[in-house]
Amino acid sequence: MNKLFQWFDARLPISSFWNAHLSGYYVPKNFNIWYFFGSLALTVFVIQIVSGIWLTMNYKPSAAEAFASVEYIMRDVEWGWLIRYMHSTGASAFFIVIYLHMLRGLMYGSYKNPRELIWIFGMLIYVVLMAEAFMGYLLPWGQMSYWGAQVIISLFGAIPFIGPDLALWIRGDYVVGDATLNRFFALHVIALPLVLLFLIGGHIMALHEVGSNNPEGIDIKKHKDADGKPLDGVAFHPYYTVKDLVGVAVFLFFFAIVVFYMPEMGGYFLEKPNFIPANPLQTPEHIAPVWYFTPFYAILRAVPDKFLGVMAMGGAIFALFLLPWLDRNPVRSIRYRSPLFKALLAMFVISFIVLGWLGMQPVTPLLTFMAQFFTILYFGYFVALWWMSKNEKTLPVPERITR
Ligand code: HEM
Repeated sequence: MNKLFQWFDARLPISSFWNAHLSGYYVPKNFNIWYFFGSLALTVFVIQIVSGIWLTMNYKPSAAEAFASVEYIMRDVEWGWLIRYMHSTGASAFFIVIYLHMLRGLMYGSYKNPRELIWIFGMLIYVVLMAEAFMGYLLPWGQMSYWGAQVIISLFGAIPFIGPDLALWIRGDYVVGDATLNRFFALHVIALPLVLLFLIGGHIMALHEVGSNNPEGIDIKKHKDADGKPLDGVAFHPYYTVKDLVGVAVFLFFFAIVVFYMPEMGGYFLEKPNFIPANPLQTPEHIAPVWYFTPFYAILRAVPDKFLGVMAMGGAIFALFLLPWLDRNPVRSIRYRSPLFKALLAMFVISFIVLGWLGMQPVTPLLTFMAQFFTILYFGYFVALWWMSKNEKTLPVPERITR
């Protein structure tokens, strides 16, 4: 076995890769629970790819057969129900994990110099993930699949001059139809997963180039031992491979509870109208996207003008891209930042959650007013951060990691 390994190692960079990225890759020793979500995002990505491949074996991407083929998977295919529920639960789990992963970045200033590119890769992943989830949602060809796609694609129609042609080009027809389903299937099962894979590769490469941040926001490379190893670091393997495995086990425990006992999650993970086949002649009473899109949907509806609403929705995502440059304070961790910063971040998180709730509700004048109020708070975070971070009174940051 050893000889065989040496043969391969002489021809492929196996041991040098292992040393550079695992056993010889030093990571801060003080990672807390918030640092589980990167490896959990990878875990969910693998679950989605594997369950997706098996779904594709029995799914039919045609308007005439799609809905029935999903029912066939649920009822007749051996273990089909498990594969389908893993995939549908995986979609929501992906966003739960990603939102917590992003919140960690906001709390510990992980987006700051020198990690801007890790953040940009992360944001690109987030945008592609939203497109991936949106296209996947059309595939079961239920009422919400159909009308959700109709509403979202029609938003492109609001863009001046090119809008109507652009919407037609995306749909491939005058209404959402067979052509739309076919192309969304192609993009969902191969094109976007490939893009995601490349982006995740770039994300991790950029991370390993500069090294991880940590809950203290301290640079561990400043203090090294005689061998050049960071004094406040531990080797990623075996210390964090083992720790991450514990995180994966705990995650899978909760994931299994949802898959086996509450796969619809009260209509949040699988919406009720989607158990009715798509009917182009009957609009559902109340169209709402899946929960992970609703904060942006609420921002869209808060603005009376359709085009300006689309701009506000796009701006809400774009503002996150700019964070590394909007936050002008060099102190990374929330532990050493001012009470004002803490209050602003809390305000941002609360407004995101409230907007998410508002995006699920039918429109009333009071709720529209609330959506406008929280939209202002959402954008207010970025403006206030830029304004206050320059001369913010922060606490002294310790030289070494003590907690
Ligand atoms: C498929 C999606 C993603 C995967 C698989 C992924 C994976 C990872 C992994 C394995 C790490 C190192 C472990 C950790 O720090 O938790 C990491 C770090 C990081 N990720 Fe992601 N990530 C994803 C999406 C995102 C998104 C959407 C963002 C933000 C927009 C983001 C921002 C970051 C940042 C800033 C770090 C460095 C954190 C630090 O050192 O404190 N990631 N990611």
